[in-house]
Amino acid sequence: MMACRLSGSKCQSFSALTLLGIVLLIHILVPSNAQSEDSLLVKARRFFQPLSEETATPKFPMTRELVELGRALFFDPRLSFDGTVSCARCHQPSLYGTDALPKSVGVENRPNPRNAPTILNAALQFSAHWYGDRTSVEDQAAMSLLGPASFGNLDFSSVKAKIKAVSGYEKMFAMAFPSEKDPVTQQNCGKAIGAYERTLVTPAPFDNYLRGAAKTLSAGAVAGLTEFLATGCVSCHGGIALGGREFRKFGIFGDYWELTGSSKVDKGRFNVTNDPADLYVFKVPGLRNVSMTPPYFHDGSVETLSQAIRLMADLQIGKKLSDQQVDSMVDFLDTLTGKLPVGYAVPPTLPPGGFKAR
Ligand code: HEC
Ligand code: HEC
Repeated sequence: MMACRLSGSKCQSFSALTLLGIVLLIHILVPSNAQSEDSLLVKARRFFQPLSEETATPKFPMTRELVELGRALFFDPRLSFDGTVSCARCHQPSLYGTDALPKSVGVENRPNPRNAPTILNAALQFSAHWYGDRTSVEDQAAMSLLGPASFGNLDFSSVKAKIKAVSGYEKMFAMAFPSEKDPVTQQNCGKAIGAYERTLVTPAPFDNYLRGAAKTLSAGAVAGLTEFLATGCVSCHGGIALGGREFRKFGIFGDYWELTGSSKVDKGRFNVTNDPADLYVFKVPGLRNVSMTPPYFHDGSVETLSQAIRLMADLQIGKKLSDQQVDSMVDFLDTLTGKLPVGYAVPPTLPPGGFKAR
């Protein structure tokens, strides 16, 4: 024990004070784990919002009848030109709302020019499609029924005939649109399917973290979140969907196709607007459930998430990531995988009726 020249109790309080001082100093100089975790959470909350299950808006109301009709239409192949393709063919529940193909295949094996993004949480984004050329999931669904490389229907009157051939739909449409005399319209199909899609949200472990359950994230995921913020991924992939809020050029620091090995060069939004400023510009995709939805990018040219992360850092930020940085970001992105909604995981029983060719 150290000798103390001061007498009795003074000596004791002096050493107690010194000890307190040292402890305080250590506390200030070396922040404890708990403290740095707290400041990470504070930072994360500035950039992300947790997902709530409520996605109806005044513009897009959801009633049980609308959702039930939309769910049936979503899973019904009888709406397609040849009776073989439903929305669920390219947006499969067991594949987290995708088809796992680089590019989708529609009726008569017609090839799609781009990769099918997941429909999970799609309604949270500011627009739909890689080009953002659909204003909402409702707009997307209504148009999709006539897509030449998806449903293959030439006009809505043939879709209507197919719907009318399934007698159970009459009652479902009447209940979903009680004030309308002839509710089987393209717009109403879009409204119903869109209302269903608005139910397809998947709260994930990361949302629990944002709400304050710090222990939800593994050490690897904490490191990955730190990297995601520090590297600057969050500048595009922030908000409630971790993306889906804006358009950005793919390949700010180089031609994307050099690194993705894309077989075709897709000019992005330029194809919609003809504006040179839109060359190679795409909608920034949301990253919820991204671990479950390979292959990646608008043309499905990249097979693994690690490779996609590496390319993003290279092309969008001009940074080379180490293997460790990439691995930790994979751990973080894993925490965005939520549970499939029951109304999606289990396909509905459809009203009986045959397929009507026309
Ligand atoms: C043949 C496959 C196929 C079918 C059938 C299909 N889709 Fe898609 N879906 C795609 C592809 C491919 C894209 C991307 C299109 C693009 O951006 O060019 C897409 C995009 C979407 C998006 C936009 C997602 C986002 O993040 O931007 C939504 C929502 C969607 N589909 C819902 C539906 C609905 C609802 C149906 C049924 C009415 C449907 N799809 C039928 C392949 C398909
Ligand atoms: C400047 C904006 C920007 C930044 C910064 C950015 N991204 Fe992206 N990200 C995009 C765009 C745009 C796409 C769509 C590219 C395409 O396929 O056309 C994308 C696509 C992705 C995809 C593929 C998603 C899918 O479903 O195919 C992943 C994964 C991804 N980004 C992760 C990251 C990570 C990790 C970082 C940080 C290293 C990052 N991004 C930084 C804009 C950005």
